[in-house]
Amino acid sequence: MRFAVFASGNGSNFEAIVRAVENKEISATLVCLFSDKKNAYVIERAKKKKIPYMVIEKEKQETKESYEKKIIEYLEEKSIDFIILAGYMKILGHVLLEKYPKKIINLHPSLLPSFPGKQGIHDAFYSKEKETGITIHLVDQGIDTGPIIFQHAISITRHETLSSLETRIHELEHRYYPIVIEKYIREVVLNDKKKSLN
Ligand code: GAR
Repeated sequence: MRFAVFASGNGSNFEAIVRAVENKEISATLVCLFSDKKNAYVIERAKKKKIPYMVIEKEKQETKESYEKKIIEYLEEKSIDFIILAGYMKILGHVLLEKYPKKIINLHPSLLPSFPGKQGIHDAFYSKEKETGITIHLVDQGIDTGPIIFQHAISITRHETLSSLETRIHELEHRYYPIVIEKYIREVVLNDKKKSLN
């Protein structure tokens, strides 16, 4: 099984996934990184780890359809079976979603459906909620919607700062995302592959 990670920013989760592949905690091949941002720090991480990467930035006038067709061309060249979003900040359109049905998963730093969007940790911290956490879900055309496959909650403590909460959430992400990816590969992706061979 061959997969690509999509990321737009720092890439700490990308690195956690690379580590899990190196340690054989994920039993699939991480073939490449895709980024929509040429200056994203995640690209430096890919270079260091010698993981092939591709950056395609969306042109202003370009439609989502034409942009996603370019991405698919690259993914097909690499024979990608499924996609892991790790801090990828673009909403996916129907072209990518129809090409990889139930084969794209996303990580979000809140207990969805609460606090979707780009600032999940910040929004939970400034809310009156006493707990927050992480969510891993299949991707659809909404903003951080789609069937939930995993959640883990933590309390927001009385002495919590935004920075301590960010650290705790990222620790959870790095710990659980690789585990959930591996489970998902075994339960869903491999099964579908078997079915398509019969
Ligand atoms: C992670 O916290 C991830 O949950 C979040 O972006 C961060 C990326 O961090 N994703 C979203 O907010 C999706 N809506 P990283 O670049 O260090 O892996």
